[in-house]
Amino acid sequence: MKKVTIIVSSLLVFACGGAKIISISQADVTRAAIKYPGITSEQLVEGQKLYAANCAKCHTLYAPSKFGEKRWNHEIDEMSGKEYANIDAKTKESITKYILTFAKQ
Ligand code: HEC
Repeated sequence: MKKVTIIVSSLLVFACGGAKIISISQADVTRAAIKYPGITSEQLVEGQKLYAANCAKCHTLYAPSKFGEKRWNHEIDEMSGKEYANIDAKTKESITKYILTFAKQ
């Protein structure tokens, strides 16, 4: 059973092509909390899921480490709009927190 789960999840990652799913550690949550006080690992995981669900429809899921904060803010602003992902403010905020936690420093 365990083996099957591993095979299925690696197929999913493979099928999506782009960024690997980052596993979120306590150290990541601590780092994120400097910028976003009180943030939880659940919130980061939620942001990661929303990112994968909304931002890989037209191109690969870009690794958060591909760009720095300034560039990401610009890209996310543009991509959240009606012509692209068309997401609400809450979804955008959740995705932004996840991406910026793992952005290029
Ligand atoms: C409806 C299709 C579509 C969706 C959905 C979409 N994108 Fe895009 N994305 C594009 C297109 C087309 C471009 C290239 C043209 C441009 O920059 O305007 C692009 C470019 C980008 C780039 C620039 C890549 C580079 O190398 O310069 C980033 C980063 C990006 N998207 C992130 C996102 C994020 C984050 C989301 C989710 C909020 C998202 N995209 C959702 C179509 C989409």
